[in-house]
Amino acid sequence: MEMTNYLNKQLGGLKSSAILAFSQYAQEIPGCVNFTLGEPDFNTPDHIKEAAIRSINENHSHYAPSNGTEELRQNASEFLAKKYGQQYSADEVIVTAGATEAIYTAVLSVLNPGDKVIIPTPTFPLYIADVSLAGGQPILVDTSATNFKLTPELLDQTLTKEGPQVKMLILNYPGNPTGATYSQAELDALADVLRGKPIFAVCDEIYSELNYDQPHASLTKSLREQTILITGVSKSHAMTGWRIGLLCAPQDLAAELSKIHQFTITSTATVTQDAAAEALGNGQDDATPMREEYRQRRDYILSVLNELGFQTAKPSGAFYIYTKIPADLEQDDVKFAYDLADNGHVAAVPGSYFGPGGAHYLRLSYATGMAEIKRGMQLLEKYVAKHRAAVQA
Ligand SMILES: Cc1ncc(COP(=O)(O)O)c(C=O)c1O
Repeated sequence: MEMTNYLNKQLGGLKSSAILAFSQYAQEIPGCVNFTLGEPDFNTPDHIKEAAIRSINENHSHYAPSNGTEELRQNASEFLAKKYGQQYSADEVIVTAGATEAIYTAVLSVLNPGDKVIIPTPTFPLYIADVSLAGGQPILVDTSATNFKLTPELLDQTLTKEGPQVKMLILNYPGNPTGATYSQAELDALADVLRGKPIFAVCDEIYSELNYDQPHASLTKSLREQTILITGVSKSHAMTGWRIGLLCAPQDLAAELSKIHQFTITSTATVTQDAAAEALGNGQDDATPMREEYRQRRDYILSVLNELGFQTAKPSGAFYIYTKIPADLEQDDVKFAYDLADNGHVAAVPGSYFGPGGAHYLRLSYATGMAEIKRGMQLLEKYVAKHRAAVQA
């Protein structure tokens, strides 16, 4: 008897992460500069680590309340208000195991089998996986012709085409993989399309502290009653391994969402919640020096890519550059990326791994030190020069 035949049918449709497979492949190539990583290369600030040590020594080793400690939820509420003008009381905040669990909880809480979810692409692939697990239908909307942003026109057209089965829109700004983000006016215009329709907007704002060119804008300001906000400390405080995320929604919704959270994980670790409370309480500006460093890296990589003929929209947030392979080089992004890794010793993720609109692109993460970035750009220059010479010969 083949027991795998009897598993949840949704599992059959889920593919293992191609990004992870590529990243692992590249890590095994000696000397290969890795631009595939999706996490800060900085260490967690010392005052946060010390708070965790205190927490351990004070024996905070018991279950935390399911929705999170009072202190963390209160600090999160104040952080969101002070930094971005977002109004969530402590009762409207649920502490999750990273933004990842917050996304899962939001999707599972809303969807019934067959419901449709609009996901602008290129996108963070986890959304598609979670929607599929919930039995929903991901509706992928290619935004490559509109600067990698969903426009009110595109949203309106998609809603008309897909009909009343649409229950959710997932937006991520600043965005992985493109670094694109929205102004408040652009989000307000999307809110106008959604307002009054029985559709939830799930806004993944995990990169909110990494906006380079404009203050962080949010749909929560124009469509709070329909919005589920996802954020956390992973990227803002270089705390990916601590697994603390935040799920925020108006109180009646939050009470319902917390059921999935409670029955899935009970609560996140108490010690890491104490650390996150310190991060959001006394480390409100911890991201500033990291942001400045990321900005320099972004500008440097952009200048090299432009010189080499890669077409790149300047990313205004997160720590990714999404760049188009020049027309005179191999156009299949998967072939290009594997050849670049094998023979050029530079690893950048094929753009098509992030969905429609991503063919011919590469994603480069600049969450890696400047010295390594410079070495990688020199290797890329060499690789491109060699290929151009071969084409001309
Ligand atoms: C857009 C986006 N959302 C969520 C996450 C996951 O965040 P966390 O580590 O807090 O689960 C990532 C991680 O790369 C991401 O890029």
